[in-house]
Amino acid sequence: MSQLSAPPIKIEKAGLASGSLLEALHAAAFYQPGDETWTARAFSDVLNAIGSFCLVAIHQQADAQDPCGFAACRVRVQEAELLSLGVTPSFRHQGIAKLLIERVAAGCRQMGARNLFLEVAEDNPHAQQLYLSIGFDEVGTRKDYYQRLNNQRVNAQTMRLVLD
Ligand SMILES: CC(C)(COP(=O)(O)OP(=O)(O)OC[C@H]1O[C@@H](n2cnc3c(N)ncnc32)[C@H](O)[C@@H]1OP(=O)(O)O)[C@@H](O)C(=O)NCCC(=O)NCCS
Repeated sequence: MSQLSAPPIKIEKAGLASGSLLEALHAAAFYQPGDETWTARAFSDVLNAIGSFCLVAIHQQADAQDPCGFAACRVRVQEAELLSLGVTPSFRHQGIAKLLIERVAAGCRQMGARNLFLEVAEDNPHAQQLYLSIGFDEVGTRKDYYQRLNNQRVNAQTMRLVLD
């Protein structure tokens, strides 16, 4: 498990009342026109579902704690799904997403999952690169999975990380 020395980042499991915080983090990370939106209610549903959990990355300074990233995950018996992941723009390229995924994978493994799946848009090469660098493989394509502005459709790649 990697540790970050700078910046000092703490990863915490989100509490049941964290829907609004997660909505704000999601909106800050997914801010381009046509990006998906997740409401506080949607996050609350995940937080309250059996087998699901969310993590929050917090940048710690002497006098402030800034939430700067999140991950949402669902585990169903041996299969887990990374539902959403984001890091706010000013905290990117510091390994925070990688750390969040490592912690998600550890949590899923503890809950008995053998595989972690996710969908990533074909027009999101940064996220694809992130997942490949962590060890995910491409295992399929979902045609027209995402809807963008003007009804434009984008395929998703399904990726899998073996947790054994
Ligand atoms: C994708 C996202 C989560 C990456 O967060 P991050 O904290 O910057 O990622 P990390 O610093 O952990 O990057 C880890 C690896 O991902 C890859 N990567 C991340 N951002 C990249 C970029 N802009 N260009 C190329 N590779 C990138 C690199 O392989 C990197 O490893 P390296 O630093 O050793 O080169 C962030 O850019 C984001 O929130 N984007 C908007 C929301 C989104 O697309 N979420 C994913 C939906 S599937």
